Amino acid sequence: MAFRAHDLMMLSCILVLVSSASHCKADCGAFKPGDYDTASLNRSSFPAGFLFGTASSAYQCEGAANEDGRGPSIWDHFTHKYPEGKVKGGINKEGVQYYNNLINELLAHGLGFLLILIYLCVYIDDFRDYAEVCFKEFGDRVKHWITLNEPWTYSVGGYANGQLAPGRCSDWQMLNCTSGDSGTEPYIVGHNQLLAHANVSKLYKDKYQASQKGVIGITLVSHWMVPYSDEKHNQNARRRALDWMLGWFLDPITYGNYPHSMRLLVGKRLPKFTKEQSLLVKGSFDFLGLNYYTSNYAKYMPYSNALNSSYLTDARTNLSTERNGIPIGPRAASRWLFVYPSGLHSLLMYVKTKYQNPLIYITENGIDEFNNSTLPLEHQLADCMRINYYYRHLLYLYKAIKDGVNVRGYFAWSLLDNFEWSWGYTVRFGINYVDYKNGLKRYPKQSAIWFKSFLNEDGVNMEGYFAWSFLDNFEWEDGYTVHFGINYMDCDNRLKRYPKHSSI
Ligand SMILES: *[C@@H]1O[C@H](CO)[C@@H](O)[C@H](O)[C@H]1NC(C)=O
Ligand SMILES: *[C@@H]1O[C@H](CO)[C@@H](O)[C@H](O)[C@H]1NC(C)=O
Ligand SMILES: *[C@@H]1O[C@H](CO)[C@@H](O)[C@H](O)[C@H]1NC(C)=O
Ligand SMILES: *[C@@H]1O[C@H](CO)[C@@H](O)[C@H](O)[C@H]1NC(C)=O
Ligand SMILES: *[C@@H]1O[C@H](CO)[C@@H](O)[C@H](O)[C@H]1NC(C)=O
Ligand SMILES: *[C@@H]1O[C@H](CO)[C@@H](O)[C@H](O)[C@H]1NC(C)=O
Ligand SMILES: *[C@@H]1O[C@H](CO)[C@@H](O)[C@H](O)[C@H]1NC(C)=O
Repeated sequence: MAFRAHDLMMLSCILVLVSSASHCKADCGAFKPGDYDTASLNRSSFPAGFLFGTASSAYQCEGAANEDGRGPSIWDHFTHKYPEGKVKGGINKEGVQYYNNLINELLAHGLGFLLILIYLCVYIDDFRDYAEVCFKEFGDRVKHWITLNEPWTYSVGGYANGQLAPGRCSDWQMLNCTSGDSGTEPYIVGHNQLLAHANVSKLYKDKYQASQKGVIGITLVSHWMVPYSDEKHNQNARRRALDWMLGWFLDPITYGNYPHSMRLLVGKRLPKFTKEQSLLVKGSFDFLGLNYYTSNYAKYMPYSNALNSSYLTDARTNLSTERNGIPIGPRAASRWLFVYPSGLHSLLMYVKTKYQNPLIYITENGIDEFNNSTLPLEHQLADCMRINYYYRHLLYLYKAIKDGVNVRGYFAWSLLDNFEWSWGYTVRFGINYVDYKNGLKRYPKQSAIWFKSFLNEDGVNMEGYFAWSFLDNFEWEDGYTVHFGINYMDCDNRLKRYPKHSSI
């Protein structure tokens, strides 16, 4: 199918870096540091062995090393040796060595937890070959694997609203796509991603798990959905909204089929699993990675015969971030991101109840602020909104664990600012500030200092484990490293960038 040719090939690492230090001395304006007192909530409030860290990722497509003034990176070396993204052309020793060094260095510094995330939406056999190289080369030390990150984002952004590469959608939606079919393609792409995930997961389980003793999972993103009102039809709309964002993937990997609501309302346009596929997909994860950022109101939207089919209307739900003019929570820089910490608790309880209490890692959670270089540096570092965000989400996470949700780790997004482009503003998600104009010099924001305090439960100075500098080796500096937004790379168009309008 035409759109498969546009598929991306990416490989990315999530590095986990933990540390600790003194208390927050932030000039936090209206917020008092005491509001986020780590004497009452800190690492020791969580179960033994619970993992904390920050998530980071680096992406690379094939080729185009010199476009937009970007120098060649190790990623190019690593991937270039695969003609058309295939491993059959041979493995690049240099790239493998780079990763070996990185992994060894992290382990040497006591950073024992490393997720290598394979984000690769090419044909299944290429994905499988690629994954196998990773298992073979790194599996002796990497114990947590994630096959796909946010298949929802890829399917919907790329094929329903066209806001991400490859930018396809139905023209009647007037979203400026040149071609596509929002009524079928998102579902086909989602289906293929599920099959690719399940295939690689089985490969790992059959061939590597027994000797390497690692685990494999998938990362899904979901907002929490709040019914617009208590009325029955809005409560049902809420359930459908969750099905269309989360259940679309979580139902198949838990139960072997799509949610009933989707089968009913999408009908023939929703691909079907064969019996074998259903068995392959069902149970194809040891743990669930969950990315949570925000919540939406869900309101019933009446069906109209006059409407053409689209992923965007199939759920018969109208999602919004405000009700009667009042936003669901304070807005961040990204216009889709409204702070709603209790949504994390609700989402976790929902997953526990509806999906057989899986083992969960919160793989991303975070907030962004605008870049405003007219402000003095110290003001730019006083990210009190971020401390507030993390503190409140961690409180709700704590509550969810108390309520029996099986969560074993939490990763803040993200370690460093990384140039996310949204509606013409550069936004910053990092707990560390990056000065793009001065050699990418990094400065810890107040939230980084707060995090150190949060993690330092017994006053031991863990400075030695502090590891920001590891990422110096990463090709971090430019717009290629963005995640979950806000630019997307189109491999076929040589890394042409698309501004993403993240709200859907
Ligand atoms: C961490 O929190 C616990 C309560 O959960 C408290 O007893 C302990 O003193 C705190 N530790 C630090 C270093 O503040
Ligand atoms: C996984 O994909 C490969 C390549 O397409 C295929 O040969 C293999 O049969 C698949 N495995 C399963 C269990 O479906
Ligand atoms: C589509 O493109 C036109 C011209 O570039 C622009 O005016 C319009 O706002 C765009 N519409 C959307 C929905 O992006
Ligand atoms: C439905 O699609 C057709 C063909 O693409 C188009 O002509 C028509 O305007 C669309 N209807 C609506 C309500 O958008
Ligand atoms: C969706 O809900 C919002 C907020 O209630 C409203 O402003 C908007 O018109 C609705 N959109 C549709 C398509 O019903
Ligand atoms: C940047 O900060 C200045 C000073 O506080 C403020 O006047 C300006 O509106 C801010 N700009 C943006 C884009 O937020
Ligand atoms: C940050 O914002 C300033 C204006 O406030 C602008 O001049 C600068 O180019 C922006 N930097 C980036 C990386 O967007």
